[in-house]
Amino acid sequence: MFRIVQKRVLNPSVTLLEIEAPFIAKKAKAGQFIIFRIDEKGERVPLTIADYNRENGTITIIFQIVGRTTQQLSELNEGDSILDVAGPLGMPTEIGGNVKKVCVIGGGVGCAIAYPQAKELSENGISVDVIAGFRNKDIVILEDEFKNHSDNLIICTDDGSYGKKGFVTDALKEQIENGAVYDAVIAIGPVPMMKFVCDVTKPYNIKTIVSLNPIMIDGTGMCGGCRVTVGGQIKYACVDGPDFDGHEVDFDELMKRNSTYREYEHNCRMLGSAEKL
Ligand SMILES: Cc1cc2nc3c(=O)[nH]c(=O)nc-3n(C[C@H](O)[C@H](O)[C@H](O)COP(=O)(O)OP(=O)(O)OC[C@H]3O[C@@H](n4cnc5c(N)ncnc54)[C@H](O)[C@@H]3O)c2cc1C
Ligand code: FES
Repeated sequence: MFRIVQKRVLNPSVTLLEIEAPFIAKKAKAGQFIIFRIDEKGERVPLTIADYNRENGTITIIFQIVGRTTQQLSELNEGDSILDVAGPLGMPTEIGGNVKKVCVIGGGVGCAIAYPQAKELSENGISVDVIAGFRNKDIVILEDEFKNHSDNLIICTDDGSYGKKGFVTDALKEQIENGAVYDAVIAIGPVPMMKFVCDVTKPYNIKTIVSLNPIMIDGTGMCGGCRVTVGGQIKYACVDGPDFDGHEVDFDELMKRNSTYREYEHNCRMLGSAEKL
């Protein structure tokens, strides 16, 4: 069992949990994830390791409530336990080369996945600009954390209620046009956002790493659920990724595959709501 030692509600749909998991905390690196099951009947759900504390033996996950399992997880409290937490899974982020300046871009809850990247890069002496995009002011998360681990934090909101009005791609274009020289861009968020960031960086030939979120089941390369096409080759995001060269990813196929179980997921959500009545 894995005990919850801290719970913070970051916004109405995003929750942070710090969980005792000493073996995972010992080995975790930015870019890796866990797969958890709340109880014996629970589905297996992947979440990125947003932070870890090797001394205290804890890991932090930050998740958005989108369906039945994330709703159940958000209802747990400090002192409660989760049945299984497997990890760290996946390959740590590897930028490669002689990197001096990186732009880390997060969209919505993707910021939770982008945060450990910014933290690890800045702790390794690399200059980090962060562009964090949200629909509006009320759902901005991790502002202080990003401030502590970047040279320049740009917050964008779609409606202009906080920070810069517009999408992360507008801010990125502006940065590049104003002379920022990035050795790499790391973009994490909704699939269309990652796709559009890659469209911006491609003409400038800026290496762009994206973190893919296909449906995962076993997380060990056995089931094929997380199959993605990268550079015309089949890859399994759970063992070959989840980070890939964004300029090589077939985003349209990913979006299609991610919608495979939409009806079933919708029915599960309805069932969950009915059970509460
Ligand atoms: C490597 C990886 C890391 C992730 N990290 C985070 C994170 O740090 N924070 C966060 O909020 N979300 C993260 N996600 C997405 C998260 O796994 C889904 O939001 C979660 O599975 C939803 O489950 P549900 O039962 O609440 O919703 P459901 O109603 O079952 O599904 C809602 C949507 O979540 C996605 N989803 C559902 N089941 C899976 C599954 N087994 N594998 C992958 N996606 C699924 C689908 O897009 C689906 O349409 C990550 C996904 C992957 C693959
Ligand atoms: S989740 Fe099964 S192969 Fe990746």
